[in-house]
Amino acid sequence: MKIYERLDRESLGRLDPERAHQLALQSLSKASKAPGALRAMRRLAHGAEYVPDERLRLRLWGLPFANPLGVAAGMDKNAVAVNALLALGFGHVEVGTVTLRPQPGNDTPRLWRVPEDEAVINALGFPSDGAATVRNRLHAARPDGIIGVNIGKNREIPAADAPQAYADLVLALADVASYITVNVSSPNTPGLRSLQMSSELEALLAAVADANQSVATARKQRPRPVLVKIAPDLSDDELEAVGASAVSAGADGIIATNTTTSREGTPERYRDLPGGLSGPPLRARANAVVARLYHAVGGQLPIIGVGGVSNAADVIERMRAGASLVQLYTAFIYAGPALPGMILRDLSDFLDREGLDSITELTGVGRQG
Ligand SMILES: Cc1cc2nc3c(=O)[nH]c(=O)nc-3n(C[C@H](O)[C@H](O)[C@H](O)COP(=O)(O)O)c2cc1C
Repeated sequence: MKIYERLDRESLGRLDPERAHQLALQSLSKASKAPGALRAMRRLAHGAEYVPDERLRLRLWGLPFANPLGVAAGMDKNAVAVNALLALGFGHVEVGTVTLRPQPGNDTPRLWRVPEDEAVINALGFPSDGAATVRNRLHAARPDGIIGVNIGKNREIPAADAPQAYADLVLALADVASYITVNVSSPNTPGLRSLQMSSELEALLAAVADANQSVATARKQRPRPVLVKIAPDLSDDELEAVGASAVSAGADGIIATNTTTSREGTPERYRDLPGGLSGPPLRARANAVVARLYHAVGGQLPIIGVGGVSNAADVIERMRAGASLVQLYTAFIYAGPALPGMILRDLSDFLDREGLDSITELTGVGRQG
């Protein structure tokens, strides 16, 4: 099958990492438009006779998730492959980061593999086709699944104008989003992470809430759930402050975490590369951040856990730490398109072994109701 030949990991692994990503995404994009290829992907994910496991379903923010495993932002920044990613088994796809105007991102090279750790370092800096194009693509794709839209400011926008920039993004994209993620945690847009500080974050979320409400009123739809995506490099005090600001500004959830600027434990020769590190070296920290946040926001806000998740055991660990949903990206680069299906099968086996009726018993948040 041609699509899978082109997704062959060994040959992709020999290519420049950004080129490999483009090729993989092109294949997924083509498949997204071809019903036969989508069927083949569903078979790859689930086998021929698959009946979705009801015990993996969960409902959050009124949205019906088929399972807790989603695609993290960055994999499909421009929403070219959502239908293929859903067909591979993911319960939701978060597209983006989308910027209001198209922008090229940072100069290349800007993406590196750390094969020793099955990790990645990226300094992409939000290359984006822009909000209008992404909006049109999602509108045309009519995805049969949950689509988060992750938004971020164009590089040249000063921090003082960030609330307006995010509000404009919500106005442009809310109607094609199941939920919206306010990204204030990429290390590759100068000054972006300072938007996590309480007063900046509260102003930003207030502007987003206004825009969200005005789209809802105009389109007679419910306002979209708004999530804040945070960095793993915050201190415990900063984490608690972010949690408190998110609650008081009326956010609906937190995504923890983005990539880390830390290079602790990374082989020497990668340490001077710019940008954010993802994959297994991030796992322990991302898990600790979820645990800390869960404690801080006390189940008031659902948390999506992301960072270094590679298998079902990692999903279970993250949910036990307090995540209601889990996302991954880097593991997909190394393991390939069969990964989500494998994880879902292992989660079902785990529920069998433990005699659990629902995956939500791990965190208690998101029980289907
Ligand atoms: C190449 C690459 C690009 C990314 N781009 C984005 C992005 O545009 N927006 C965002 O919020 N996160 C982005 N991320 C971060 C991921 O969504 C995720 O938070 C992080 O990689 C940790 O998860 P992982 O270890 O499973 O990859 C990117 C990650 C990678 C590896």
